[in-house]
Amino acid sequence: MAEYGAERYGPSADVPPDYRVAGRHAMMPAANHDEIARFNFLANLVKYVSTRVLPGTAVAYQNRAEPAFEDKHGHKPRDRREVRKAMEGDPYYKIWSALRLNTMEMRQQAGRSVVLRQLDELNAAAKSLNDDKPTLQLDPSVEIPRYIGSVDNHLMPGSYYTELVADDVSPAANYDVGIFVTTQGLFGLHTDGAGHGLVKWLADNHPDLKINRILDIGCGLGHNSVPVALGFPDAEMYAVDVAAPMLRYGHARAQDLGATNLIFKQGNAEALDFPDQHFDLIYSTMFVHETSYKALHRIMAECRRLLRPGGLHVHLEQPPFHGMSPFEQFLRDWDAYYNNEPFWSTVHSLQMTDVMAKVGFDRASLFETKVTAVVDETIFPKAGDFDYGRGCVWYTFGAQAEAA
Ligand SMILES: C[S@@+](CC[C@H](N)C(=O)[O-])C[C@H]1O[C@@H](n2cnc3c(N)ncnc32)[C@H](O)[C@@H]1O
Repeated sequence: MAEYGAERYGPSADVPPDYRVAGRHAMMPAANHDEIARFNFLANLVKYVSTRVLPGTAVAYQNRAEPAFEDKHGHKPRDRREVRKAMEGDPYYKIWSALRLNTMEMRQQAGRSVVLRQLDELNAAAKSLNDDKPTLQLDPSVEIPRYIGSVDNHLMPGSYYTELVADDVSPAANYDVGIFVTTQGLFGLHTDGAGHGLVKWLADNHPDLKINRILDIGCGLGHNSVPVALGFPDAEMYAVDVAAPMLRYGHARAQDLGATNLIFKQGNAEALDFPDQHFDLIYSTMFVHETSYKALHRIMAECRRLLRPGGLHVHLEQPPFHGMSPFEQFLRDWDAYYNNEPFWSTVHSLQMTDVMAKVGFDRASLFETKVTAVVDETIFPKAGDFDYGRGCVWYTFGAQAEAA
């Protein structure tokens, strides 16, 4: 696939790789010529908007919005809310914001049209790969929490859980086929760079930790469960999610990718039915920002209950707002207003160390760090050769439970 990836363009071309470099597996929806062209157009548009249009918002702020705010209020904007007041009517900001919103909407439309035209085939493929295997454990009594059930998360119609027909996998198939547009391959061949990065981080930082039982919470379709299951092939590993379509698709995909030690289980990470101190490693990737204030505290308390003494819990997320300028906070807060991310502003304002301490973790056991995604070099040149942009270095927090 090098002909479509970095080698085709060379790093200085600085354009996204072709959609055809995205990793394939038995569940991946097929895309025809026009659909590939649409994904490529959108990936390039997303990159153009984020690298060429976005920087102009800072110029508009400095030259126009900030001085106008100061004239009116007698001081410069002091926090992201005041920056927002200064910027929300600015024509340049409105153009960038509308373009970004449109790319998000077009991405959903493009992904769903690919999936819906082959809905029956995809559902049948999942059924045949899942084949009543004990490693897929669905539980229809699990209730969808409000923060998932009442919102089309990041503009995804029907969120993660909606089933158009019985045994549906379409929300997961849409998530999988279209994520290339928003990440442009930056998340790795199988959108699994964070999981590979976590395996490397564990080897570098906790080489002596005995890992026999692993839990991934909010696993989605298992993009970042599979690399961990493959990294610890002798471990018993559970990947938990509330949404049955994600689990059906994820299990079928994992079977095809060889992660047969991975059990996909339907459950709410706020209250799981595993025994106390059951796991050596609990982790999540891009999960906690999609919960709620109350749920986050419950989930952290559940991690504490489920960790064995000396065990580790680790969560890879978008960076918090602390330490960023009010203007950067304002830009990053865009998702809360326009991308259906209702917990976004609050979660990024929290100190995760305080949240963990609040549910009983000893402060001495807490850590905040960064985990670098491991991205396949057939898509992008080696890390460090040029700027990958955001998304490849994850803000990471967690704790190591006290040894017995
Ligand atoms: C951004 S997605 C998938 C993230 C996934 N870890 C990855 O790296 O691709 C977040 C997932 O969390 C799930 N989820 C949200 N709240 C949950 C909860 N309380 N318990 C379990 N899963 C939850 C959603 O259904 C969704 O599949």
